[in-house]
Amino acid sequence: MMRWRGAMLDISRHYFDATFIKKTISSLAIFDYNTLHLHLTDDQGWRLESKVFPLLHELGSVRKQSQNNHGLLEPTYDGKEHSGYLTHNDVREIVSHAHSLGMQVVPEVNIPGHTGALLAAYPQFGVNKAAVEVSGRWGISDYLLRPFPETFEFLAKVFEEVAELFPSEYIHVGGDESLIDNWLKDPEVVVFMKEKGFASTKELFMFFMKEIEKIISSLGKKMVTWDDAFAFDPEQATQATVMSWRGAAIAQIALDHGREVIQGPVFPTYLDYSQEVSESEPLAIGGPVTLEDVLAFTPLPGVTGVQFQLWSEYIQFPTHAEYMMWPRAAALAYRCWGEGKDFESYFAERRPLLEKLDVTIRDMDPLKRAKIAHLGIGPYYRGFDTASMMEALEKSAVAGEVAHDF
Ligand code: ACM
Repeated sequence: MMRWRGAMLDISRHYFDATFIKKTISSLAIFDYNTLHLHLTDDQGWRLESKVFPLLHELGSVRKQSQNNHGLLEPTYDGKEHSGYLTHNDVREIVSHAHSLGMQVVPEVNIPGHTGALLAAYPQFGVNKAAVEVSGRWGISDYLLRPFPETFEFLAKVFEEVAELFPSEYIHVGGDESLIDNWLKDPEVVVFMKEKGFASTKELFMFFMKEIEKIISSLGKKMVTWDDAFAFDPEQATQATVMSWRGAAIAQIALDHGREVIQGPVFPTYLDYSQEVSESEPLAIGGPVTLEDVLAFTPLPGVTGVQFQLWSEYIQFPTHAEYMMWPRAAALAYRCWGEGKDFESYFAERRPLLEKLDVTIRDMDPLKRAKIAHLGIGPYYRGFDTASMMEALEKSAVAGEVAHDF
């Protein structure tokens, strides 16, 4: 079987508690998943208790309101506070439950972009030390950490605390969608670039990630980044494991450069995408990613693993999260490491175990479909065509550019 059989749960955009995370671990184990990647921090929330820097969870876990329409539209907001974070005790319970089922839990603390919640707590580490609020808007934001020694000292302590809590071999440090030209808006960063002789913000980014790589290695861990951090400059990038989300081309380039690669392409492993083009499906970021699409996925030879992603901008309720995962998470497992003559019999054999856990499954028969709580009915944003989006993502990855909202 593949070495990394992964599932990513985003608990930043909407918080999911330890009870749900443990239940999800139990359900994933039925299908031989062995890695739960927790996306713990982002612009919209910091979801981990910190005893070293308590403002991270005290301020960073609370946002005043959330966007309640699609992220590509002019935002409207729900006016409701959203909060929550995992305590150290929660993490110990999650990790211990995962271990009992043969799974590792890989934490992600996303830097240097996607840092709105961190900067709401500690603005001194951001571009121009600007005051920031925990964001209630979806999509890519301007927030960016400053590349100075005090930032790295701070992050070293943050990662040290994270490493003590999560005994996994890996720590994920994000590195995606960083709008690195925002460094040029900070005169002190511009002076720093001149002093260091960096001709471009990409060079500065490589310096930043190499400082982080030193921190992660000193903790005895292997670093993982999203493909952006590699794609900016494959020749100068860190040695981190590359988690490719923008298609197979950048995954192949990373393999050719000797990197360990986990494949998690938007199409068809972003399970927050709707499962069908239908007015009755819950609002989703895009779609569709059908069961058949997942069953047709072929990993590249030589990759270390495959992973699905459940981002949670549009998913607030556990039943909705499960509805998006099942049966597609089972299909990915069958396709990439499962055994049996066909998916139907593979799933039928294991389905009773999911049902015993009271997991919500999206039935293929519309008449049998579970009623779930969700933030609104689709359709997902109509201008969002999955095939042309994937093409644009692949191009941006190979060109070493940030994929902007589209
Ligand atoms: C990502 O979807 N920004 C990894």
